[in-house]
Amino acid sequence: MIRWGIAGPGDIADRFAQAMSRVDDGQVVAVASRSADRANVFADRYDVTGRYDDYRALADDPTVDAVYVATPHTRHEADTLMYLDAGKHVLCEKPFALNATQARHMVEAAADAGVFLMEAIWSRFLPSYRTLVEVIGVGRIGTPLQVDADFGRRMPVDPTHRMFDLHQGGGALLDLGIYPIQLCTLVLGPIEHVVAAGILGETGVDEQVAAVLRHERGGIGVVKAAIRAPLTCTARINGTDGWIELPAFMHCPVSFSIGAYGADPEVVDCAFEGDGLEFEIAEVHRCLAAGLTESPTMPLAETVALAATMDDIRSQIGLVYPAEC
Ligand SMILES: NC(=O)c1ccc[n+]([C@@H]2O[C@H](COP(=O)([O-])OP(=O)(O)OC[C@H]3O[C@@H](n4cnc5c(N)ncnc54)[C@H](OP(=O)(O)O)[C@@H]3O)[C@@H](O)[C@H]2O)c1
Repeated sequence: MIRWGIAGPGDIADRFAQAMSRVDDGQVVAVASRSADRANVFADRYDVTGRYDDYRALADDPTVDAVYVATPHTRHEADTLMYLDAGKHVLCEKPFALNATQARHMVEAAADAGVFLMEAIWSRFLPSYRTLVEVIGVGRIGTPLQVDADFGRRMPVDPTHRMFDLHQGGGALLDLGIYPIQLCTLVLGPIEHVVAAGILGETGVDEQVAAVLRHERGGIGVVKAAIRAPLTCTARINGTDGWIELPAFMHCPVSFSIGAYGADPEVVDCAFEGDGLEFEIAEVHRCLAAGLTESPTMPLAETVALAATMDDIRSQIGLVYPAEC
């Protein structure tokens, strides 16, 4: 039984706590907030014993084996370092960090502490993504050469919302763009060159961003993200012998289409019961049981490389966060 603590009782933490009920060998035993009221409300909702109005107290709780860091991006580095330093395993929400320098610190700290660390890219553990990797691996579309993927939501401009707040690491790239980019690296491997364009809005965050990625093995990725327009939220992978289409939402599809050029496509059904976060929780549990300190499905080197790619894109579109100044 892995005993989890949750840092940050917000929207995604709610989904995480609900997903835990679909996992046999895990339990949420503590939650930390900046407010006793919010900690209590969350703890009551999920029947959690440990409830703290201080994030540090979660690090000091000896009953906690692993911490789910679900605070805003700008806190991910400090929160993760605090829990790693206390000897806790950490599953840190995406984007893992504000930039690659922070990501490297976190990875080094986990290695020093000898504990497990993973970026919570839940897509990677869904049945659809597992099946996608399998069908590409057995050559169903030949050699994958191109990935086109986008993720955009239409949100009203609200300077206080974390998506529009520079001080909370807001913007389309870090929150949504991470998903198309990680699909590109999953399918095409490491990125060697990036060309990007972006539009910064009135609050200073990137409201639109697009990038063309050249991969070391010769593939091309084309990715877009937006927070003021609902993009298609789909993805298409073109290989030498066939193609795959992921329907909306491309980061959590329950089916996909696969076809050879000139032949009728087949729909691959990957439906599952539940929300989907339970698959990444199960992966953490599997890794811990196997004595692993990282997941081979979402390796830390790839997490750092994704952060470096987003640094490159941000430097090209002129997006700097106050925490970096
Ligand atoms: N994997 C996914 O599908 C997914 C989906 C959504 C979000 N996320 C990621 O999860 C993280 C949290 O997103 P969310 O949508 O859950 O955000 P949210 O609803 O705003 O929750 C964030 C929580 O962080 C805590 N917090 C601590 N310091 C804070 C600060 N200075 N400002 C604001 N909140 C602070 C807040 O709790 P207290 O105020 O009670 O301390 C709040 O409940 C983000 O990094 C996001 O990218 C992932």
